Amino acid sequence: MQRILFVCLGNICRSPLAEGIFQHLVEEAGESSRFHIDSAGTSAYHVGERADSRMRKTAKTHGIELLSRSRQVLSRDTQEFDYIFAMDGSNYRDLKRLMNNHSTAKLVLFREYDPLTQGPDDVPDPYYGGPQGFEDVYEIVYRTCKEILNDLQ
Ligand code: 4NP
Repeated sequence: MQRILFVCLGNICRSPLAEGIFQHLVEEAGESSRFHIDSAGTSAYHVGERADSRMRKTAKTHGIELLSRSRQVLSRDTQEFDYIFAMDGSNYRDLKRLMNNHSTAKLVLFREYDPLTQGPDDVPDPYYGGPQGFEDVYEIVYRTCKEILNDLQ
């Protein structure tokens, strides 16, 4: 069983999308029993909320339903997950600070796995932008999740 956590700032746009897409890909591959998938936010701004309606709408046009509720990442998560994927560099730095001697998770910048970028890059935060931003985020997260699953299979 591989335990995978995706983390962004609010846990209402980028990381719920990554969770939903990764879950979808895992189911498609018939490997649901091999993965435990979750997402969380570095902030508590939106705790308890469903994913942003614009993000849910974009995901739905691609056949993916986002069902998560926002929660804040916990220090304990760094012991309970095998991989933690930070959606941007700021999330990565916040997670690094949360880690301690007991942390066993491997912390990775999500787009290290993006087949279309070289080197470190952020998943742009779509929250304050227009609809195209959500579609762009979808494309980035989809192709990157595919690479991650290939690598972990
Ligand atoms: P996310 O997007 O980190 O991808 O969930 C954001 C959601 C909310 C806020 C910022 C980013 N906010 O400032 O409320």
